[in-house]
Parts: sequence; structure tokens; C-alpha cells
Amino acid sequence: MDCKSIYSGSIPEHAYFFLNKSPSGGIGRHKGLKIPRLNKIMRVRIPPWVFIINNNMSILKILFYPNKILREKSKIVKKYDNILKKNILNMFDTMYKNNGIGLSAIQVNINKSIIIIDILKEKNSKLIFINPKIINKKGYIKSKESCLSIPNKNIIIKRYKYINIKANNILGKKIIFKCKNLLSICIQHEIDHINGKLIIDYNK
Ligand code: CO
Repeated sequence: MDCKSIYSGSIPEHAYFFLNKSPSGGIGRHKGLKIPRLNKIMRVRIPPWVFIINNNMSILKILFYPNKILREKSKIVKKYDNILKKNILNMFDTMYKNNGIGLSAIQVNINKSIIIIDILKEKNSKLIFINPKIINKKGYIKSKESCLSIPNKNIIIKRYKYINIKANNILGKKIIFKCKNLLSICIQHEIDHINGKLIIDYNK
């Protein structure tokens, strides 16, 4: 999602992660990033599942409408391996390079159900959702959206104001995420990509 209106300042108060319990009760630290114990409600600060691995900047090619690949349904992710992590890091590089606030893997020709989001100007609030699904929704909000795959087009779309989603994190653990407003809009936009749906479809 390429959106002109971007949150500034701190991470929205309403963004909470609920992490499911892990058999080990915690997974420790990884290269200085504190990874929180699971089974604990936490406010999003540093996303717990961003692993720092050797990352040579890779900017991927974004597919543009009317490329048919954008209409494909993304496959469920089953393997939580280094290829997946590399895919995700490359997606962030690509999204930031293109001034996006959200990106779906299919937009860079990776057929996996992965969405990444960072709505903050500071570009320090990486959110990663694998196999995301909306499980609850409430209220409506109008948004003016643009898309990295459809340059120079804005479409007004009626979205849910509040959503709860379930997804997996980069380790394959289940998470529930609650959000509203821009974050909610952005997640709905990216989940549409997973289903092969584009903003222009709302114009009909
Ligand atoms: Co888009």
C-alpha cells in the first residue's frame, strides 16, 4: 500500500499483540533483539519476530497491474525457514525503497501468504503477518488508497475500522493482532492482495 497519510510519532496505543504460549516458555535473545516471552500480552515496540540475519540489501521488482500474477491467490506458508526470512527482509528493503507502508509477497512475485507493514514515518515499526486472516471486524471507515502495483491511482474504499486478525509470526507461532484506523486499512489492503484483489476492483 502506498499511502500519503502516515502516522508520525509513536506506535499507536491500540496495537497489541497477543502471543500464544510456547512450549519452552520463551525463546531468549537473538543478536541483541530482546525477544519477549510468549504467552504474554505485549505492546508493540520492536516486533519480536524480526531476526537480524546477514542482509545484503535486495530490492525486488514490483509487479504492476495488469500483470496476471497479481490475480493469483497466495499459497499458505508451511515452511518457516531462512528462505522465508530472506523473502521478508527483501520485501522490507523493497517497500522502504518505494515509500510504501505495506506490501504483499505476491507483489514482488513471491507466491506466499506474507504481508508486511510499517506505517510509521520513522520506518522502525516492522510488522509481519504470515497466513493472515481477519477473524473479527467492526465499524466502517473511508480511506483513500493507492497501491505500489498501480501507480498514480487513488481510490476511495470503505473498510472496516476495527479488525482482529490471526496470523503466524516468522517463527510459525500463532498470533492475534487487534488494530484500528490506518493500520486496519493497510492490513485489509494487503490481505486483499493475498486473495488476488486490487483497489481498482472497488471502483466497479
Ligand atoms: Co497494494
